[in-house]
Amino acid sequence: MYVIGGTGAGKTSFLATLITRFMKSSPESVVVLIDPNGDFAEQLASEMADCEKLIYVDPVQATIAVNPLSIPDGIPRDQAELVSREVI
Ligand SMILES: Nc1ncnc2c1ncn2[C@@H]1O[C@H](COP(=O)(O)OP(=O)(O)O)[C@@H](O)[C@H]1O
Ligand SMILES: [Mg+2]
Repeated sequence: MYVIGGTGAGKTSFLATLITRFMKSSPESVVVLIDPNGDFAEQLASEMADCEKLIYVDPVQATIAVNPLSIPDGIPRDQAELVSREVI
């Protein structure tokens, strides 16, 4: 999902509602929030029942590296190849 709009359009409010409702329906999930200002993260932490499920990343402070092709440890070779074929 890509949420776009001018300042004051309601992007932050929409995402806050979406995330809090999602966390209520899927309490085992974890939210990773990349927020350069930090104000949205503070708002969400106050609204979420379990703010330990919120991982806040400040992109100015932290270097984030994601390898979409990495295969988790312990996955059998044949299954890893199957997943790789779907991704590439
Ligand atoms: N669906 C809505 N109906 C009425 N007011 C809204 C709605 N969504 C957001 N707002 C209000 O609009 C203002 C800007 O919302 P915000 O989510 O901060 O916008 P953005 O993140 O796009 O700049 C806030 O005061 C918010 O309470
Ligand atoms: Mg906003």
